[in-house]
Amino acid sequence: MARSKITVVGAGNVGATLAQRLAERGYADIVLVDIVEGLPQGKALDMLEAGPIVGYDSTIVGTNGYEETARSSICVITSGVPRKPGMSRDDLVKTNQNIVRGVTEELVRRSPDAILIVVSNPLDAMAQLAFEVSKFPRQRVIGMAGVLDTARFRSFIAQELKVSVRDVEAYVLGGHGDTMVPLARMCTVAGIPISTLIPSERIEAIVKRTRDGGAEIVNLLKSGSAYYAPSAAVAEMVDAIMLDRKQILPCAVRLDGEYGIRGLFVGVPVKLGAGGAEEVIELELTGDERAALQRSADSVKELVGIMQI
Ligand code: LAC
Repeated sequence: MARSKITVVGAGNVGATLAQRLAERGYADIVLVDIVEGLPQGKALDMLEAGPIVGYDSTIVGTNGYEETARSSICVITSGVPRKPGMSRDDLVKTNQNIVRGVTEELVRRSPDAILIVVSNPLDAMAQLAFEVSKFPRQRVIGMAGVLDTARFRSFIAQELKVSVRDVEAYVLGGHGDTMVPLARMCTVAGIPISTLIPSERIEAIVKRTRDGGAEIVNLLKSGSAYYAPSAAVAEMVDAIMLDRKQILPCAVRLDGEYGIRGLFVGVPVKLGAGGAEEVIELELTGDERAALQRSADSVKELVGIMQI
């Protein structure tokens, strides 16, 4: 049986780092696509040549076209411009909209059964666009944001308490923007709610730092945005799908009445397996949490309106 194929569009920092992480898993061949001549070819060849040292047999092909992407099991869209210091993710909508539309059309024509994972910003709007353009069932169009935002939240809590990140369980829901909803109430360390471990003003500070986590990196880097944690987040989602883990991870999916929201992409916990986003998990939320999620959905709606799709 041939190895599965995973396409990564965009050979920038997120795309290339993701391609590397996936190649190292060894369970799929990787196609890396970018419009810049030589860039995907060079990075792919470099990664291929790391195989004998790291010990993987995955092939990695770099290309400026889409022929090689045919019959991919998963296609990850990372293309688009990142934000600069002072910009919000939403400022990217016009530029990235055209890019993501074109990429999605090329991908679905050749891989009509693929699962699409969208990473380009503004995330929820770009996922919505890919969904509309692809006409795929909602299970097969998934946005990556919650895993990243949750990883940031978990890192800061682990740091605060000097415990292993493995013992910290948390969820960040909502859009991948300033209105995201870190669910502090449901955050636990080895089953113990953080409200009993961390003073509330420190929790508030951690929630704020999580919300601004992307901007903190943008401001430090000055050019470009985060990519180690974002690519790790996508790789975890790809693992869950490729290995049919049925793992519950926060992802942006199109809600169909769950959480009282319909027809919009918003981050919620979903069960990820071979079928993609197989199930939306509905957490019991307090009135405040529900209102915060609704506010987040409203801001996604506003962006979708700007795109006029
Ligand atoms: C971040 C960008 C990639 O959160 O959205 O770092």
